[in-house]
Amino acid sequence: MFDKLKDHEFKIFRDIIYNESWINFTPTNKPILEIRLKERLKKLNIEKLEIYHKLILNDKDELKNLIDSVTTNLTNFFRYKVHFETLENHVLPDLKEKKNKTKFIRIWSAGCSTGEEAYSIAMVVKDFFDSSWKIEILASDISFNVLIKAKEGFYSKEKTEEIPKKYLEKYMIQISNGYYVKDSIKELIQFDYHNIMNEPTKKEFDIIFCRNVIIYFDAQAQQEVVDLFYNTMNKFGYFFIGHSESLFGMKTKFIFKKLGNACIYIKNEGLT
Ligand SMILES: C[S@@+](CC[C@H](N)C(=O)[O-])C[C@H]1O[C@@H](n2cnc3c(N)ncnc32)[C@H](O)[C@@H]1O
Repeated sequence: MFDKLKDHEFKIFRDIIYNESWINFTPTNKPILEIRLKERLKKLNIEKLEIYHKLILNDKDELKNLIDSVTTNLTNFFRYKVHFETLENHVLPDLKEKKNKTKFIRIWSAGCSTGEEAYSIAMVVKDFFDSSWKIEILASDISFNVLIKAKEGFYSKEKTEEIPKKYLEKYMIQISNGYYVKDSIKELIQFDYHNIMNEPTKKEFDIIFCRNVIIYFDAQAQQEVVDLFYNTMNKFGYFFIGHSESLFGMKTKFIFKKLGNACIYIKNEGLT
């Protein structure tokens, strides 16, 4: 097994990962990449880094495994509570008025990790609209491992602590040491493998959540993702990003807005 990742080796793997996912390893993060590479080599019983390099150039599946291994998947139910308050008290009432004819809402949780974000959105939306409304939520990620967990919809008791009691009682079933998400919520969500670098199969989203994802990208990649989101949204769409992320300094038509206690972005076309 290799000892330390040399600078030129770091550059080779960093570039491959960036070109494939836009995840940007800076020199400070070199030790993390080194650990992940060692884990992959150990798992595959490969001694030399050059052999692993050749492998990922020829084997798309192993390249996906490497990308999966370098993703950061930290998430939580109702992460940034204010976003969900703003969703319930400002965004959904507005969409209810604007989309009263079609009664159809389409939402995207991009970089959904293990599903908590998508399920939190689904609980709020399901609770808000009556059954005459059609709700469609796309939840996507570049990591197969998190998608398996997300689709299963089972979470330990500790993981569910942030779910408001009214939703927990209504939309989750307790099984011994944890909770399952009920089918009435699961059926609103389609979990899909998707790389944010590419256009999604669906368009015309009314709301996009992409929180704590572009924080791992460089400025150029962030710009491209934000443009892609803008173009896949309805003309009055709402865009939620993470608390430590911002579109400041970017060339974008998204309008920054403080709505309730949350800072979000709105597509500027069609504002009346
Ligand atoms: C830190 S988690 C954020 C989860 C959730 N959005 C939240 O804020 O709690 C970031 C997720 O983005 C995913 N991700 C990173 N790069 C991606 C890409 N190019 N395409 C799709 N998903 C990506 C990772 O796999 C990871 O699950």
